[in-house]
Amino acid sequence: MEDAKLILNGKEYILPTVVGSEGEVGVDISKLRGVTGAITLDSGYGNTGSCKSAITFIDGEKGILRYRGYPIEEVAEKMRFVDVAYLLIYGNLPTAKESIDFRHQLTHHTLLHEDMKKFFEGYPPTAHPMSILSAMISSLASFYPGSVNGELVDLNIVRLMSKVKTIAAFSYKKSIGQPLIYPRNDLNYAGDFLNMMFAVPSEEYEIVDVVEEAINLLLILHADHEQNCSTSTVRMVGSSQANLYASISAGVSALWGPLHGGANQKVIKMLEMIQADGGDYDKYVKLAKDKDSDFRLMGFGHRVYKNFDPRATILKTAAAKVLDKLGVTDPLLDIAKNLERIALEDSYFVERKLYPNVDFYSGILYRAMGIPTNMYTVMFALGRLPGWIAQWKEMREEPHGRIYRPRQIYIGETKRSL
Ligand code: CMC
Repeated sequence: MEDAKLILNGKEYILPTVVGSEGEVGVDISKLRGVTGAITLDSGYGNTGSCKSAITFIDGEKGILRYRGYPIEEVAEKMRFVDVAYLLIYGNLPTAKESIDFRHQLTHHTLLHEDMKKFFEGYPPTAHPMSILSAMISSLASFYPGSVNGELVDLNIVRLMSKVKTIAAFSYKKSIGQPLIYPRNDLNYAGDFLNMMFAVPSEEYEIVDVVEEAINLLLILHADHEQNCSTSTVRMVGSSQANLYASISAGVSALWGPLHGGANQKVIKMLEMIQADGGDYDKYVKLAKDKDSDFRLMGFGHRVYKNFDPRATILKTAAAKVLDKLGVTDPLLDIAKNLERIALEDSYFVERKLYPNVDFYSGILYRAMGIPTNMYTVMFALGRLPGWIAQWKEMREEPHGRIYRPRQIYIGETKRSL
């Protein structure tokens, strides 16, 4: 690949190019300001590569998503979430022994310090579980302060992966006023989470295989997505050498927003609104196109995918299968399919390359499994956790890593006197 040439104020500058392993081309501007005095301006970072990464590859035009080189379709069909987490964090598939050891560790670090339970008591019943999740993950740093010096990184990774599902389930139990159900070492990752969410001390809870499989699939499909808003936040915070817990807690906050992970909750609200309004899809498609309205079709569009989101394709099929196996008929699934059909025929959506994203069908699945709406984004966070950890680790292991510190073009008042 040839170097790039930039002409600025009549002077020519050579800018080296960088080519990734899948042929992606970047113009390296790291010396730009030093040499020319100018910076680049890219609001929303749509054209800015913030790092080199070997974790996840996406080709948005072709609808390709790969974890460490493995296509998402194969990973989703053949793997368990815990092994996917290992793959993302450590770079390769675990050997049989590594897989057993990792599972053993994840199973034996699930308990929270008993003092942390007091924190849950302080929240109002209306508290959003994402706010509890973010605060609790940050609080873990005060129980495991060794995380700041980097020596205990692997142990803290295990602690975080194990305890976050306990925190997530406790926050739900707190919101509905039920007793907290402790983790069980005889259950696998997804099964233990379901048990902590839905078991009560007064009776046995049976883990349904189809539900456990669906949770496993959902976690895998959310596990990483390269430099999205929350992951970039994790890297940004981690670049100041903040500890793992603080960095991931910031990622949870970033994920909460309705343009990012919070969209899955909004999709269901939108489908319910359309249903309550007599199922008039056209009206809402028109509203989404109206530039005087703030309404957007939630679960539609993506910064990177300009063809289809492979995760949404997998989830659409899975949603139909799971509902069928569970014997659930959900009118919202029909509304979603019809809305998708109408939107995909509409020139507004076609021209802007707006397709259903991962959040469009995930909510239907969560609903069928009895996961409450305000837990959907928490489910996204549970899935994304290994991705955030992998990206944090990769950044911290970079030999000449620098603190993230963008520039700006100042457009305020020039110097004036009081
Ligand atoms: N409904 C209606 N119009 C839309 C939508 C939508 N969902 N998404 C984008 N547009 C329009 C937008 O108005 C703009 O039109 P114009 O060019 O006429 O001004 C054009 O499409 C480009 O949109 P944008 O906002 O510049 O695109 P972006 O890359 O900055 O934003 C997005 C991507 C995902 C935030 C956006 O598509 C959106 O708000 N979607 C709805 C929220 C959503 O589903 N978010 C979940 C994303 S997937 C999960 C994750 O990884 O976070």
